[in-house]
Amino acid sequence: MADLSKNIITVNNITKSFTASKGIFTKGEQFFAVDNVSFSIKEGSSLGIVGESGSGKSTIARMICDIYKADSGSILYYNKDIYSLSKHEYIDYRKNVQMVFQDPNNSLNPKLKIKSALIDGIKKHITKERAEIENILKNLMDMVGLPYEYLERYPHEFSGGQRQRISIARALSINPKVIIADEPVSSLDVSVQAQILNLMKSLQKNGITLILISHSLAVVSNMCENIAVMQKGSMVEYGNTDDVLCKPKSEYTKNLLKASEYTMIK
Ligand SMILES: Nc1ncnc2c1ncn2[C@@H]1O[C@H](COP(=O)(O)OP(=O)(O)OP(=O)(O)O)[C@@H](O)[C@H]1O
Ligand SMILES: [Mg+2]
Repeated sequence: MADLSKNIITVNNITKSFTASKGIFTKGEQFFAVDNVSFSIKEGSSLGIVGESGSGKSTIARMICDIYKADSGSILYYNKDIYSLSKHEYIDYRKNVQMVFQDPNNSLNPKLKIKSALIDGIKKHITKERAEIENILKNLMDMVGLPYEYLERYPHEFSGGQRQRISIARALSINPKVIIADEPVSSLDVSVQAQILNLMKSLQKNGITLILISHSLAVVSNMCENIAVMQKGSMVEYGNTDDVLCKPKSEYTKNLLKASEYTMIK
């Protein structure tokens, strides 16, 4: 069970810069995609990261998963710097912090049946025992609401919503402690969005720590206890979701609130 007193992920003053190739910066100019951002997440809790396009949300997610290295600052997994974990600890951290991407079409190998895509991680991290693997696969398909027989299908044989369920099943297959979902529903139909969000909510009830990146304040306010608001690489607001949305401190958050559907549902 989740221990709410423990910080599972802590991010201290992380910074990441890139060299501009296009957009608002001059070509070749260095800019900060993420500038001195800090926050921490308790085991079993949920953090929503919102902010306009290009504000650095995905870059933060990628640094937490070690897809990008931070230029400076530190990322702690249970108070240990991920850049100085032993090999064994690093494998454990990578297993326990799983990412679900915005577009399930790009995150599943089109040449692999779903079963093969799921089995590799299970064999590597959980068990090589056939009967146990079958059991895990059955539970996973149940959990994400897909028939067991669909395991024999290829990614192109699914709808977008079903593919996103498969991506979630794959992330869950190795029993992670943290799911980082980067815009998990924005490529999906509105009716399917609700189903996927409900699925994420049920995972959270089972003790999984959730980092949810979304453009939508409505989604985050509904799903997450805490919220971070990003603007141009900086975190302009961070705290309990209700506090932040009821009494926003920054002008940026106020404007975001005004522009969002959040006002309509509260
Ligand atoms: N690998 C990269 N090389 C160069 N620039 C990058 C790279 N990754 C991200 N960036 C830039 O860093 C900035 C932040 O990007 P990021 O993807 O984190 O934004 P975001 O908040 O996730 O946006 P969106 O809501 O559109 O997904 C953007 O200006 C982006 O172009
Ligand atoms: Mg993004």
